[in-house]
Amino acid sequence: MREEKSKHKILIVDDEKSNLDILRRLFRRKYQVLSAESGEDALDILAEHEVALILSDQRMPGITGAVLLERAMQTHPDAIRMILSGFTDTEDLIESINSGQVYRYVVKPWDSNDLQQTVDRSIETYELTIENRRLLSELQILNASLEQKIQERTVELQTAYDDLKQTQAMLVQTEKMATIGTMAGGIAHEINSPLAAILSNSQRILRFPDDEQKHIQSATLIEKATKQCKAIVESLLKYARKSEVETEEIDINAVIIETLSLVEHHLELKNIQIVKELSEVPSIRHSFVELSQVLTNLIMNAQDAISANDAEVGKIIISTAVADDKISLSVADNGIGMTQETQMKLFDPFFTTKDVSKGTGLGLSIVAGIVERFGGQIEVNSELGKGTTFIIRFSNKGES
Ligand SMILES: Nc1ncnc2c1ncn2[C@@H]1O[C@H](COP(=O)(O)OP(=O)(O)OP(=O)(O)O)[C@@H](O)[C@H]1O
Ligand SMILES: [Mg+2]
Repeated sequence: MREEKSKHKILIVDDEKSNLDILRRLFRRKYQVLSAESGEDALDILAEHEVALILSDQRMPGITGAVLLERAMQTHPDAIRMILSGFTDTEDLIESINSGQVYRYVVKPWDSNDLQQTVDRSIETYELTIENRRLLSELQILNASLEQKIQERTVELQTAYDDLKQTQAMLVQTEKMATIGTMAGGIAHEINSPLAAILSNSQRILRFPDDEQKHIQSATLIEKATKQCKAIVESLLKYARKSEVETEEIDINAVIIETLSLVEHHLELKNIQIVKELSEVPSIRHSFVELSQVLTNLIMNAQDAISANDAEVGKIIISTAVADDKISLSVADNGIGMTQETQMKLFDPFFTTKDVSKGTGLGLSIVAGIVERFGGQIEVNSELGKGTTFIIRFSNKGES
């Protein structure tokens, strides 16, 4: 048997005491029965109790059963509302039943067994409604906390992504600076000769203060040497600058020549021979600085591959060509070559086979990024111990 505490409360309302007694006796075993002799008393009881079911007589002095149930619907929406009525009351009740204020009506005189069953079933409905509501609110709470978690996680991910982007941008710039460091030897050499010319010609002017002829000759040479220095510094600045990438119509051969002027000396020092096989190619829309960065990275890799292959005399062949609708640029070396495994991964960011101090593994991922951005393709052919060729192809939009 249920504990008194866990029994549902039901409210029975009838102005006939004898009916209340019968009903109380009928239900008290299973339910906690509250009773009232009028609709008004019933409302007072409802003000203080949660009830699972209200069973009310229709015809009473004061407010009718239907009116009582209509009011109860506002305050106790989940409670099951039942009316006890004689056949003659049905007319009055039709509206209440239709508008949902009355869940069931039981015709007087009632059969105790039937009534008991009807009430039991109604209580089951009540329990289901309450359980549904509880589950729904639990679900809403879970949903809300899930939504909050998703939001928090999204913010975390966004922050991580922003950090990563920033780090990546920094790395790209660092990589560029490292390449410039490598170029420094070459630049110093390039600048050294015009500086020597400037120095010797200024000394000549000072030594012959009255020789106008010599002054003109020396000043002309100084001007030429100064312009040379200026050009070298400018191309270096252009390379190092972080500003937005500018695209323009460029001649790939010119990019090769200018880039080589920065690295050639460095390669000579390592005894590496540079061969240029340049064909006349149509101009392409690209960024001068970025294409120069691509070339520098490929040349630096070639140089490292040659150094690792100490038996050979080093040679790097840079060529340009037009075939069908493609313009190609290739950098071939006779360095150490690559295994299949390396070839599979070489464009991955941070993939390197070099010492930590030597390579970041970013070079080729930057190269691939730049080439792709300008609609080109990059391809590699390599043979272990023999050498490697990188070929970049751009579509030749201008000509047929
Ligand atoms: N010409 C080449 N010959 C042989 N192996 C090469 C050549 N170019 C690239 N590789 C291989 O591909 C790897 C990745 O090259 P990548 O330029 O991306 O990075 P890295 O040269 O190691 O470092 P970083 O360029 O950042 O200084 C190299 O470590 C090397 O193993
Ligand atoms: Mg590299």
